[in-house]
Amino acid sequence: MWSYVKSHVVGEFLACFVVGLLCLNVVESRDFNCREEQIQYSAINCRKHTALLTDFGGKGDGKTLNTAAFKAAIANLSKVASDGGAQLVVPPGRWLTGSFDLTSHFTLYIHKDAVLLGSQAESDYPLIDPLPSYGRGRDAPGKRFASLIFGTNLTDVVITGGNGTIDGQGAIWWKKFKEHKLKNTRPYLIELLFSNQVQISYLTLTNSPSWHVHPTYCSDVIIENLTILAPIDVPNTDGINPDSCSNTRIRDSYVVSGDDCIAVKSGWDQYGIKFGMPTQHLSIKRFTCISPDSAVIALGSEMSGGIQDVRAEEIYAINSQSGVRIKTAQGRGAYVKDIFVRNMYMNTMKYVFWMTGAYGSHPDPGYDPKALPEITNINYRDMVGKNVTIVGDLSGIQGDPFTGICISNVTVELASKQPSVFLSEKKKKLPWNCTDIAGVSSRVTPTPCDLLPEKQVDCAFPADVLPIDLVQLKTCSVGVGI
Ligand SMILES: *[C@@H]1O[C@H](CO)[C@@H](O)[C@H](O)[C@H]1NC(C)=O
Ligand SMILES: *[C@@H]1O[C@H](CO)[C@@H](O)[C@H](O)[C@H]1NC(C)=O
Ligand SMILES: *[C@@H]1O[C@H](CO)[C@@H](O)[C@H](O)[C@H]1NC(C)=O
Ligand SMILES: *[C@@H]1O[C@H](CO)[C@@H](O)[C@H](O)[C@H]1NC(C)=O
Ligand SMILES: *[C@@H]1O[C@H](CO)[C@@H](O)[C@H](O)[C@H]1NC(C)=O
Ligand SMILES: *[C@@H]1O[C@H](CO)[C@@H](O)[C@H](O)[C@H]1NC(C)=O
Ligand SMILES: *[C@@H]1O[C@H](CO)[C@@H](O)[C@H](O)[C@H]1NC(C)=O
Repeated sequence: MWSYVKSHVVGEFLACFVVGLLCLNVVESRDFNCREEQIQYSAINCRKHTALLTDFGGKGDGKTLNTAAFKAAIANLSKVASDGGAQLVVPPGRWLTGSFDLTSHFTLYIHKDAVLLGSQAESDYPLIDPLPSYGRGRDAPGKRFASLIFGTNLTDVVITGGNGTIDGQGAIWWKKFKEHKLKNTRPYLIELLFSNQVQISYLTLTNSPSWHVHPTYCSDVIIENLTILAPIDVPNTDGINPDSCSNTRIRDSYVVSGDDCIAVKSGWDQYGIKFGMPTQHLSIKRFTCISPDSAVIALGSEMSGGIQDVRAEEIYAINSQSGVRIKTAQGRGAYVKDIFVRNMYMNTMKYVFWMTGAYGSHPDPGYDPKALPEITNINYRDMVGKNVTIVGDLSGIQGDPFTGICISNVTVELASKQPSVFLSEKKKKLPWNCTDIAGVSSRVTPTPCDLLPEKQVDCAFPADVLPIDLVQLKTCSVGVGI
């Protein structure tokens, strides 16, 4: 029994005992098939205690609902939060579950051969209040279904695995949404509110009913090595949406989506303005996106708490509607400022640069049309685009121009043949169309609009490194009998 565990984390007595027992349980039920496996993973913190979902009655047969097992396991493991914390290992199998909540000083580890399957029954997702910064749900004015994996007011929480899978089985939700049959807002796949020291990594996330990863009102968030896959023709399946979060890094991830691959947000009109919590200090590196109908990185449209200090580099886009897109509207208030993007490579794009001040989409008629957003200090440099339809469509707001736009060292090859959808429109699309903006450009091909005159400049990119980018993950090791 003792040989099943080789945790190098100190104080492994309980972990040994628990894992040994777990293995024994599996031995009994699986005709002595139990084998020892040494798992290694990278995390902000390793844990002293370990348990398997099977010890709490979990069944990985793809049919049994495991919500109660997850809840029992996490309730049990929350008791050791202040004694070195715990990791819950989801072993190989297909684990159907409804929504459950995480706890602090806790790791949910999804084995490489494990798939979490989101229940398709509305009753498996408790109803929760709208986000205070949104005032209402995005799909419907009422409540929201809690996300499949949910957490609020947590510290030090890790969701990781050996590239195990979380499958939201969203098809039924997409259908209900399109048919206007939902009275409440769809669940997200993973949502954490008011939490700090968050890590979501080394997983495949797929088919979320709506957004996949939604850290909201969080700080010190690490999101890396995620593969996020959704059909490209389904609604609102955004990849990663940092929302009113400070100090976030997104790295080494790949998203295919029907909506934005990354959408940076901070609340909606009067509710977001009142709540007043920005997304700031966000670093995105080595990120690949396929999003034929949306943006690689969207800023907004909900930005009413402000968006400031976003740095993105080594971004690869294939067959996407737009590169970086700023979406805002009268009534949003706040700001999008100090945005820096460099080394972005794009192939087959409708737009490289897209900004709109007329996005519309208001929560209710109570918004203040005089609440004008301030869009300023937007820097794009060192980019290559191929097979592009429109280089820049930049429209600010009349009387509230978007300023300080800088674009340097950008080479775009236009698509040789304009798709018929554009030829059939009355107006021929121009490579650049700018209104109510101000800025400069340097070494940009094709030549930008007159509102971005040539100046010999290299657009800014911060020389400092954000503290979140310096956080080193620890190597955690745990032996389990599975
Ligand atoms: C839950 O935790 C307690 C220790 O607090 C332990 O004795 C018990 O065995 C655990 N339950 C299960 C089902 O593992
Ligand atoms: C979570 O934290 C927020 C902000 O501090 C607070 O308003 C809220 O009441 C807390 N919620 C819970 C469930 O503790
Ligand atoms: C993780 O799994 C996904 C889906 O099977 C796969 O596309 C991806 O390449 C895997 N990532 C790694 C790093 O193995
Ligand atoms: C995360 O992705 C990067 C880039 O692909 C890779 O070098 C690194 O090994 C990955 N980490 C893990 C733990 O798979
Ligand atoms: C160029 O883009 C169009 C869509 O705008 C696409 O149909 C075509 O395959 C792309 N060509 C290449 C060489 O990628
Ligand atoms: C211009 O951008 C390209 C593409 O990112 C890069 O390889 C090159 O080094 C840049 N040139 C300068 C002078 O910065
Ligand atoms: C340029 O953009 C403005 C503002 O969005 C729009 O009204 C106009 O039709 C556009 N012009 C062309 C030629 O696309």
